[in-house]
Amino acid sequence: MLRADALLSRFGYCSRREAAAWIRAGRIRLDQEPVTSPSAKLDPARVLVDGEPVPFVNGIFVALHKPLGYTCSHTPENGAPTIYELLPTQWSARSPAVQSIGRLDKETSGLLLLSDDGNLVHALTSPRRYIQKVYEYRTVSPVPPEAPALFASGSLTLNGEKTPCLPAALEPDATDPCHGFLRLHEGRYHQVRRMLAAVGAPVAELTRVAIGSLQLASLSLLPGQWAPVNPQLFIDAP
Ligand code: URA
Repeated sequence: MLRADALLSRFGYCSRREAAAWIRAGRIRLDQEPVTSPSAKLDPARVLVDGEPVPFVNGIFVALHKPLGYTCSHTPENGAPTIYELLPTQWSARSPAVQSIGRLDKETSGLLLLSDDGNLVHALTSPRRYIQKVYEYRTVSPVPPEAPALFASGSLTLNGEKTPCLPAALEPDATDPCHGFLRLHEGRYHQVRRMLAAVGAPVAELTRVAIGSLQLASLSLLPGQWAPVNPQLFIDAP
């Protein structure tokens, strides 16, 4: 149960201060009955605002097909659009706000999860229980044939790092040495780009195609589209 004014602010309709005016205007109902006081205790699932149920009343957990050229920052950087511009505007006014679960580079596209549940975001980004990610790459020059064994060995140390990368599965295309998939069990800064650059094959295009058991292709999302997903898919994911 939430106070009416807290509910309106929690779900991004207006500030707690503005709530009294919304309530006076008869915009809030509980089971069709007008709510008359900002301090009325309400079950959000039974509330209508302007005749509509409160969206994502149990919290937000969605998958976004991140397009190229968008940053995962909350504030625009150097004029680049942010992924938050692709989501309903009311979401950024919710408190807690929706945030991405990890990030993709501006020039990486693909599967990104977002939630407004801080504990869940924290749990799913913890290095201790990293959820495997799969990236599809296209490189500028061919990936050398010895790269899969090197990546699998856990002995590749990236420039400026002290500890080697964990074993990673590199699956180059049998017919195209500039294309393939890389499965990671950890998330370091620009990791895919740096690993492929380390074997002389800089990345030309990069897309995240899977997180745990969730495949981007299974969601049928065009770049910029999002869809709700069940967070349970990622609890105890490999
Ligand atoms: N590795 C990268 O290099 N970039 C990403 O966006 C994700 C993983």
